[in-house]
Parts: sequence; structure tokens; C-alpha cells
Amino acid sequence: MQNGVIVVLTGAGISKESGLATFRDADGEWARVELEDVATPEGYRRNPDLVHAFYNARRKKLQEAALPNAAHLALARLEQEWPDQVLVVTQNIDDLHERAGSRNLIHMHGELLKGRCDLCGTISPWAGEMTRASRCPSCQHPGRLRPHVVWFGEMPLDMPRIYRALETCRLFIAIGTSGNVYPAAGFVTHVQSCGHARTVELNLEPSLGATLFQQTVYGPASQVVPDFVARLLAEASS
Ligand code: APR
Repeated sequence: MQNGVIVVLTGAGISKESGLATFRDADGEWARVELEDVATPEGYRRNPDLVHAFYNARRKKLQEAALPNAAHLALARLEQEWPDQVLVVTQNIDDLHERAGSRNLIHMHGELLKGRCDLCGTISPWAGEMTRASRCPSCQHPGRLRPHVVWFGEMPLDMPRIYRALETCRLFIAIGTSGNVYPAAGFVTHVQSCGHARTVELNLEPSLGATLFQQTVYGPASQVVPDFVARLLAEASS
């Protein structure tokens, strides 16, 4: 990918209008279940059945009830208009960016529709129920398969590639993220420490890092993101 790209960080807010819960809104996942129980290695060791049930329910909901919304589609359009110039770094584990058409995409917190074997390390597509008895499709061992999701205390994925893009981008856009969780919450500061990129927050309401952005636009992602992308493309063609 060429230097001077656009890096777009997305969080759960971009998928809210697709019917998927965020985490820290009043109706979010962490209002219903303790993150320590379902999103930490300790919680998984303590009660794997509870963790599998949590991700099985989200996997089912994602496949049965969620479709990409106008925000996902707008980001895919931007990438199509500017090939090799747009990188989407998502904290989300849903596949709505892919289904919208985004290709240059990093899931830094993993993917709900994949499983990872603790024994052989193989990462496999996994769309159905996962239980303690599930066998790894590669080594066939039962009981070692976990959701391919990065839990608290674990290292997010593809960080060297993400930081290289942050250090060379000319535009950094954060969409639908509350700025609660690092390292993603620190990306805007990293961008600003490396150069003169433009930084923009598109969110329903100010995030914890709102004052760090040069430009902020608030409203539902399905309205704000397509508008912003349209203006970006119009600016470039004028
Ligand atoms: N449009 C735009 N933004 C929205 C919308 C919407 N329709 N609805 C909610 N939001 C915003 C909220 O205002 C909030 O700022 O999306 C953000 C969601 O914040 P969180 O629930 O904290 O989700 P996120 O920032 O993605 O969480 C980061 O925390 O629990 C971990 O691994 C999990 O990836 C997740 C990480």
C-alpha cells in the first residue's frame, strides 16, 4: 500500500444501526454481562461454557439479523474510489465491513466467525455453535477450540502493520468508538506525534478522546459517514 493513506478506525458504534449492540451504551453488552466473565482468558478458564454461549449468541445474531448499513457501504465506496489508499482498522469482530465490500481491512480484536485452536494454533472459519466438545478442523482435537477474539489482557492483532499505516497516513478518521480501550484509543495521539495528518472523529457523541481530534462531526454513523465520504470525494474532484 502506498504512503499517505487514509486510516479509518471503527468501533461498535458503526454497527449499532445494523442491530448489533455496542459495549458501553446503556443497552450495551457490558450492561448485560460482566466483561471479566466473557472477554478475559481468566473468565474462559473459569467457565468456558458461559464464554461459548456468549459468542454463540452473537454469532447467531450477526448471521441471522445484521446487514451492513450506509456507514459500512460508504467506507467500501471510498476504498473503491481510491484503491490502495484506504485502510480500515476495526475493533469490531463482526463481518459487516467485509459484507459491505471493504477489502483492505484489519480486525485488530479478531473475528466472531473464526475459531482458533489452542493446541495447533490454526485459525479456521467457524459460523456455527462452538462448545467445549468442538473439534479443531485442522488437528481434530476436541476441547481446544476458542473464539478467534482478542480478550482483555491479550495482544491485539497486526499491530506493526497498523502503526506503520498510522505513521504515514495523511488522514485518520475514528468512527463509532468511545475511546475507552487501548491501544486503539491512543491511535489519534500516535498519528499526531508522527506528522501532520488530519484527524477526524465521526461519532454519535463526543468520545473520551474527542478533544484530540482536529475535526469532529456528531450524529448516527449511517448519516454522518456517507456525508463525510461524499464531501471527501467531492473535495478531491474539485
Ligand atoms: N453511530 C455512531 N456512533 C455510535 C452510534 C451510532 N448509531 N451508536 C453508538 N455510537 C457510539 C457511542 O457513542 C460510543 O462512543 O459508539 C461508541 C461505542 O463505544 P463502545 O461501546 O465502548 O465500543 P468500542 O469503542 O468499539 O469498544 C472498544 O472495547 O469491550 C471492548 O473489545 C471490545 O472492541 C471493543 C472495545
